[in-house]
Amino acid sequence: MPYPYVLLSAAVSLDGCLDDTGPDRLLLSSPADFDRVDEVRASVDAILIGAGTIRADNPRLLVNAPGRRAARRAEGRPEYPLKVTVTASGDLDPKANFWHTGGEKLVYTTEKGAERAARVLGDTADVVSLGPALDWRALLTHLYDERGVRRLMVEGGGTVHTQLLQQGLADELQLVLAPLFVGDPAAPRLFGPGAYQGGRLRLTESRRIEDVVLMRYEPTAPGAGPLPVAADHRWLRTACELAALCPPSETAFSVGAVVVAADGTELARGHSREGDPVVHAEEAALAKIAPDDPRLPGATVYSSLEPCARRASRPVPCAGLILRSGVRRVVTAWREPDTFVTAADGSGVLADGGVTVVTLPEYEAAAKAPNGHLLP
Ligand SMILES: NC(=O)c1ccc[n+]([C@@H]2O[C@H](COP(=O)([O-])OP(=O)(O)OC[C@H]3O[C@@H](n4cnc5c(N)ncnc54)[C@H](OP(=O)(O)O)[C@@H]3O)[C@@H](O)[C@H]2O)c1
Ligand SMILES: [Zn+2]
Repeated sequence: MPYPYVLLSAAVSLDGCLDDTGPDRLLLSSPADFDRVDEVRASVDAILIGAGTIRADNPRLLVNAPGRRAARRAEGRPEYPLKVTVTASGDLDPKANFWHTGGEKLVYTTEKGAERAARVLGDTADVVSLGPALDWRALLTHLYDERGVRRLMVEGGGTVHTQLLQQGLADELQLVLAPLFVGDPAAPRLFGPGAYQGGRLRLTESRRIEDVVLMRYEPTAPGAGPLPVAADHRWLRTACELAALCPPSETAFSVGAVVVAADGTELARGHSREGDPVVHAEEAALAKIAPDDPRLPGATVYSSLEPCARRASRPVPCAGLILRSGVRRVVTAWREPDTFVTAADGSGVLADGGVTVVTLPEYEAAAKAPNGHLLP
């Protein structure tokens, strides 16, 4: 079930507010940062905001720089990204700037909201009902499958950002901290209360832009339930990148693996033939973790290839090593082909041992890339 890459973007005051309560939008960013936001917009297929932000700010959500629009056209993309909003009420002002500027418009709503939204908007926008309630996974799948969206920028407000982070669906948070206080207890906050997945986010960049600071974070926690979340996609992508580090071989696959604790802490990573001509990726990674590490039972092993069920080079295959380690969750991109052993069923061995195995086939091509010479 592929989702677009979801990038949350927001600016906050030092006291964590997105706006004040006055009638005009509070300017938090600096001019150079607005230009950075323009560049990010130019890089995405769609921009999403909640209906509350349309009502409060009446934004246009354009790519302002003509050069960036020209570059999009030159790549065969629409000049402006698709504009998306979400509403349960269908309470949308058809005169708002959102509907009359920039790219195509799309409204996700509920059965109840759809009638009102379609009535007030006419053919200004496509209105899609997602059923009795708005399900964010269904929304992301629809954007990916029906509108070809691969990169989605979410520009707020707080209720939308909060849901996407709490549901583990954000790939990245770009947060700008502005040097001012709002001080109004009624002002909207960026993040609301509730259960956030995982622990600390990973800070991937901090950058001063005039008098504001941009911080970029990646949520880290793996999925807890049966459905993969953004962190699963990211860690599996990392495993596929590790596979490219393997010394070449004509007689074994190139595989990458990462072991990640429930709170999103990376415990170890490894790749095939890492410092040992026959070591496998999962074996190399697990060997770096103390066998009594209490985080192992809650951890996930991400492996670019399904863990092996049989191997000539060692008595215990990787599926067995994973079962012994106490890890109860494996995410992989690709089932082992019959190149070296026939009907290998590492996933079956793991499942029989009580391990949940998730396959994300959208990473199969990346996982196969360093193994092209071994495949039919
Ligand atoms: N500083 C920044 O970077 C930034 C960015 C954006 C916004 N803001 C500020 O944030 C404030 C608005 O924030 P907000 O939290 O009130 O509004 P919001 O998140 O933009 O929109 C909330 C609305 O979106 C719809 N919605 C959200 N989740 C939904 C779901 N699961 N199902 C169906 N509909 C859903 C609902 O619309 P209906 O009510 O129509 O049902 C809800 O009232 C404004 O003051 C704005 O200035 C600041
Ligand atoms: Zn193996």
